[in-house]
Amino acid sequence: MTHSESLRKAQEAIDKSAPLASKGRFRQHYHFMAPAGWLNDPNGCIWRRGTYHLFYQHNPYAAVWGAMHWGHATSADLLHWQHQPVALAPSEVYDDHPQGGVFSGSIVVDENDALCAFYTATANHGDGFIQTQCMAHSRDGGISFQKYQDNPVIASVPEGISADFRDPRVIRHNGLWYMVLGASLGKGAWHGGEGCACLYRSENLKKWEYCGIIARSEGRYGTMWECPDLFPLDGKWILTFSPMFMGGRKAVYLTGEMDFDVPRFNILGDGEIDWGCEYYAVQSMLDDGGRRILMAWQNGWDWMSWWKDFGPTAQEGWCGCMALPRTVTLDQANKLISKPVCELEMLRKNKKKIVGLKVGTEKISIPCSDPVSFELKMEIDLTQTAAQKLHILLRANTEKYTVVTVDFSTKKLRFDRNNSDDGYSRGIKECDLLLTGSTCIVHLFSDISSIEIFTDEGMTTMSNKVYPLHVNQKTCVWAEGGDAFFKTINTWALGL
Ligand code: FRU
Repeated sequence: MTHSESLRKAQEAIDKSAPLASKGRFRQHYHFMAPAGWLNDPNGCIWRRGTYHLFYQHNPYAAVWGAMHWGHATSADLLHWQHQPVALAPSEVYDDHPQGGVFSGSIVVDENDALCAFYTATANHGDGFIQTQCMAHSRDGGISFQKYQDNPVIASVPEGISADFRDPRVIRHNGLWYMVLGASLGKGAWHGGEGCACLYRSENLKKWEYCGIIARSEGRYGTMWECPDLFPLDGKWILTFSPMFMGGRKAVYLTGEMDFDVPRFNILGDGEIDWGCEYYAVQSMLDDGGRRILMAWQNGWDWMSWWKDFGPTAQEGWCGCMALPRTVTLDQANKLISKPVCELEMLRKNKKKIVGLKVGTEKISIPCSDPVSFELKMEIDLTQTAAQKLHILLRANTEKYTVVTVDFSTKKLRFDRNNSDDGYSRGIKECDLLLTGSTCIVHLFSDISSIEIFTDEGMTTMSNKVYPLHVNQKTCVWAEGGDAFFKTINTWALGL
């Protein structure tokens, strides 16, 4: 099948299944989702001429992972997205396989003003999976892509690197093109290999020269680095990736200095972009305002194996959404600060405000004009808070609830979803809090099937899926081991 036939077939499948999927009970209100089928990593995120482009890993044929395509959507504000035709489909000997296809990658604008997409082509000719790096061009602003006739542009794996070699991130620096690839040294991702990032260099985007490994796990960051990104931020360089086999850590960032000549990424600090269960395969883009915006898949690979299926939304004909877009900056201590994009404020409706509230062991209900789809911003006065713990009960009725705990005594943030829904969600996530200063702001976004938290001035974030459908959902707070004092609590209903 030619590429255009393969695209047409994929688009027909989506158009056919979209009406039913759009009625799904778990469909989000203000998070990006594909019209139907499966979605994972953000790909090819780029701002161009007033438009944000989001491409994504997509299976148009079923709400399960398989035969990867690139879906495409555009937006003027990162929140209202318009679905565009499927952009890339498996069609060639190097990228056509039901368990392979057009894997993750990135987009740059070349010197002829064409969008140039780089992706990992995954094929299997009976002797294991082969991952090569390929290119496709669009001369109509990302609507249609032609695969490059001399693909793959990188056909083999550097010495010492296993077959896990993917997710090209192309950037421009000092008049040259560079490509960062996620890889696994030695035995590979599944057999105890060592995660690393490889660098290539090119003058024309077609011929690529291998420069070397810029950073590696050395026992610290997992067996394989998926979806790496490399970008300058506030005078330093940031290298992000999603490590495999690193327990609860899914979205690592390294802060450092990038020497493109050696080449080496000199690590000055590290951290986790998000401590939740679901935040994976981050990709950044720079917009005209100079903002570095992060997009990420609001799911992860772990949760699927718990049920040996693709989760509750798959029965509705769709699976997967993106986390809220965030902007990032770097603080003095080389820590990444994430904030939800300010455009979200445009979605606010029916503000409700409480000023000065003391909370003890009795549960106090927080008014919100939408109990499911809302934003909640709490300013806790630490100077007047003696409590050891503050509990925030979300999407709660008398039987089901999600609990977020700010533990002042141990300086931890905890997210407990063991009782969130009819049994789909499981687990407790916990991470450190700094709790410096006299106030602690807990900023929270609830949508039909997710809850995202930003706290510690944006240094600590958590993105989690929950699937509560029960009636009478409410929000309430109470404290343990003393009183907690809120300077303000603001809530808004959120909707597009
Ligand atoms: C990350 C990932 C990538 C790969 C893609 C396939 O979620 O495993 O490494 O390119 O998904 O869909």
